[in-house]
Amino acid sequence: MVNQQSKINHQKSTLLKNIGYLVTANADGIQTVENTSILIENGRIAAIGEGNADHIIDCCGKMVTAGFVDAHTHPVFFNKRDEEYAMRLGGASYEEIAAAGGGIVSCVEGVRKASKEELIEKVSSRIDRFISMGTTTVEAKSGYGLTTESELKSLEVIEAVNRSQPIDMVPTFMGGHAFPKEYSNNQDAYIDLICNDMIPAVAEQGIAVFNDVFCEKGYFTVEQSNRILEAGKKYELKPRLHADEFVDSNAAKLAGKVGAFSADHLMAVSENGIKALAENNIMATLLPGTTFFLGKSSYAPARKLIDAGVTVALATDFNPGSCHIQSMPFIMTLACMHLGMTIEEAYQSATYHGAEALGLADEIGSIEVGKKADFILWELDSLLDIPYYVSNHPIRAVFKNGKIAFGA
Ligand code: NIG
Ligand code: FE
Repeated sequence: MVNQQSKINHQKSTLLKNIGYLVTANADGIQTVENTSILIENGRIAAIGEGNADHIIDCCGKMVTAGFVDAHTHPVFFNKRDEEYAMRLGGASYEEIAAAGGGIVSCVEGVRKASKEELIEKVSSRIDRFISMGTTTVEAKSGYGLTTESELKSLEVIEAVNRSQPIDMVPTFMGGHAFPKEYSNNQDAYIDLICNDMIPAVAEQGIAVFNDVFCEKGYFTVEQSNRILEAGKKYELKPRLHADEFVDSNAAKLAGKVGAFSADHLMAVSENGIKALAENNIMATLLPGTTFFLGKSSYAPARKLIDAGVTVALATDFNPGSCHIQSMPFIMTLACMHLGMTIEEAYQSATYHGAEALGLADEIGSIEVGKKADFILWELDSLLDIPYYVSNHPIRAVFKNGKIAFGA
């Protein structure tokens, strides 16, 4: 993450007073405090329940929660793919559309041709929308350029938007998103390009934190994914992966082998895959928005994962093809209705566990003294009302690093 200092409010201390209901979660579960206040100093939480400040904000008895941590998004694309949505409404599946030339590769030309400035404008307006729905940290992947040059450009776009927008973006390199057309008959050469050219260049550029691969039938095999993730590790790019989204390809086991920060999707994960995640202490980031947006009914087995001892985060997977959803509150609704998660679990997974999936749980994801002052002031007074409001998100203000990033 770049340029954190400029995002922090050094001038004043601020007191959020008259909070009717404060909700936060950490590894131990959910905690709630009634009738309290939060003191913010230098962009961080200085005290809870006491303190004086230069600047006072009256929360009028409403609820304050931590800001959402969306640990899986693909926001760097140029063209939308609404025609694929129409094709799905007509009965075609995501896999069929991709096999017919749609899917990820149909975004490649747009990203390659677009200027950095054009992409910055698009990504920045997408970030505005994330903030308005309470997201205060967002992981953001490259992966629609699929040449060294356009992947580096995508990461530069993330860095530039991160600098200009109040929220924090965590950049991920995803050259292993799909095989570009020019390599469709020469897959090994594309893996070589990723490992020998892209990864060293990405490391040299110094923006990306993570290295992600789409380990899936029709995309990258377990062996290919392993090569890419191990090559990244040599350059200190932390591994994470898209695992067992549509079919079980033993990707969960690979997540354990490479020590991934998180295995994501897991709609088709097997019992053995669940065991591998649990035994190796690998987190699962579940993306129920994708299942929903693709019109599928095979939601990830969240309950089984949780019962096996796997820590589950929730994220949007925002992208132009399989999930055009940016709202973490709506993801909470889906988690409660389709993943069998309780409201408290959904909240914890959308905040604290999201932070854990990015290795940032010491800094963000909960309201605790010393952490970044990232919160949502709701027009609501109960946690239940977040999923209950489904598609409208009554948010009065979003605070990032102690400053108002949205609302008043
Ligand atoms: O997470 N699974 C791989 N990538 C995206 C889909 C991206 C796209 O269709 O553009 C996903 O679902
Ligand atoms: Fe994804």
